[in-house]
Amino acid sequence: MSTLPAITFLLASVLFILGIKLLGSPKTARLGNLMAAAGMIIALLATLPLMHGPLGAAVPGINATLMVIGILAGLGIGAYGAYSVKMTAMPQMVALFNGAGGGAAALVAALEFAKQGGETQAEWITLAMLFATLIGAVSFSGSIIAFLKLEGKFEKPLTYPGQQFGNAALFIAMIALGVKLAGATHAPAALIGFLVFALAFGVLMVLPIGGADMPVVISLLNSFTGLAVAADGFAISNIAMIIAGTLVGSSGTLLTLFMCQAMNRPVTNVIFGAFGKAVKNEAGAADVGGTVKPIQADEAALLMSIAQHVVIVPGYGLAVAQAQHQVRELADELGKRGVEVSYAIHPVAGRMPGHMNVLLAEASVPYDQLVEMEAINPQMDRVDVCLVIGANDVVNPAAHEDKTSPIFGMPIIEAEKARAVIVLKRSMGKGFAGIENHLFFRDNCRMLFGDAKASLQALVAGVKES
Ligand code: TAP
Repeated sequence: MSTLPAITFLLASVLFILGIKLLGSPKTARLGNLMAAAGMIIALLATLPLMHGPLGAAVPGINATLMVIGILAGLGIGAYGAYSVKMTAMPQMVALFNGAGGGAAALVAALEFAKQGGETQAEWITLAMLFATLIGAVSFSGSIIAFLKLEGKFEKPLTYPGQQFGNAALFIAMIALGVKLAGATHAPAALIGFLVFALAFGVLMVLPIGGADMPVVISLLNSFTGLAVAADGFAISNIAMIIAGTLVGSSGTLLTLFMCQAMNRPVTNVIFGAFGKAVKNEAGAADVGGTVKPIQADEAALLMSIAQHVVIVPGYGLAVAQAQHQVRELADELGKRGVEVSYAIHPVAGRMPGHMNVLLAEASVPYDQLVEMEAINPQMDRVDVCLVIGANDVVNPAAHEDKTSPIFGMPIIEAEKARAVIVLKRSMGKGFAGIENHLFFRDNCRMLFGDAKASLQALVAGVKES
């Protein structure tokens, strides 16, 4: 590669790395996003002069025209998607975009392989092309299934006897075909077969996994896409693709592992899914002991307005109710009365990484009021009121008290240690794990039933009157 494109790709790569670094804090995340996007535009423009081939030679300017059309179409679809998507539908959008990336990486590798063949290449380049074709295609079809599941198109995970065995057989057949391809000079039928096998494997891998596990699966497929792009970069000697792909691959892998760690589940348990099936604890209210004690909004408001320290634990239900602005209003009203308010953030509250941070940022909640689980737990026994809003599993004490519980060992926010706990939810409905919550039956816990937005509006009115 000549010097100018190489330097331009290096500049783009530096922007990707700085962008990821800045995404580490909510204060700098917006700038980080812009930097990474600028890096991507620079990398795309740097590719323009590198395009060649028979079509470009026959019709002058056609390559650049096609690429500009592609860039404009991509920008338009991306911008429309980002502006119009609802916060709760963000995981679906990430799945779609990730699938597109995986599909593109697979096409680049497959076309390059078809053009050059396996035999004439250095072995590692052949390997990189086939690897990118395989995992790019798995990521593409797997992401489409993940998208459809999150859209609620499949009511239940699709399981059948011998499924894992069938998937393993398909995987072995796919690898055998890959080995055959690696030694072939011109084998279009085998290459198409390889692609079809990889696409089928992506579908069959994701079909049996439960819909609510999709964020973890999407993060895993995201790391696949990154690795496919990096392998493409090796195959076509493109440094920007190697660096960007490695960044996506490694961050996707780390995110997957962190999510699994925060749920105390090995990644194999998510992929080969036993959650909600074999290990489900069927404990009902009677087994938990204690009684459910409702509270009215005015009493709850009074309790909070005479407290010194109120900790708010947001969960998935807050996102469903879209009540982030009402929470902020409540915190502001309490603040005016001298009450210290903090938000306890569980790493897997909600349904996607950083869900609660993004939701609260939408309502301009000050970042310094957000406290991580590890930091808030040691203070919990000095908290006067813990206000749990639409959270369930992330405050379930069964996680450290009941060895038979499917969430046993999952780190939780220890809401039960607060002097008083007030839970806002619509009913005694269960959370993602589908199990009873011991907290709701504790002596220090009161339930304010109703949609979180309506309950918060009533609480704000109550605090104003107090
Ligand atoms: P959940 O345990 O899912 O509980 C949410 C609760 O919100 C439900 O019990 C529901 O009870 C209530 N709710 C729903 N709509 C509401 C509304 N409009 N108003 C008031 N309440 C409402 O949520 P969580 O505590 O945030 O835990 C997250 C779970 O998702 C964890 O088990 C976690 O492992 C899992 N998960 C998370 C992720 C990521 S990355 N965040 C990824 C995969 C899985 P009612 O029906 O009674 O109202």
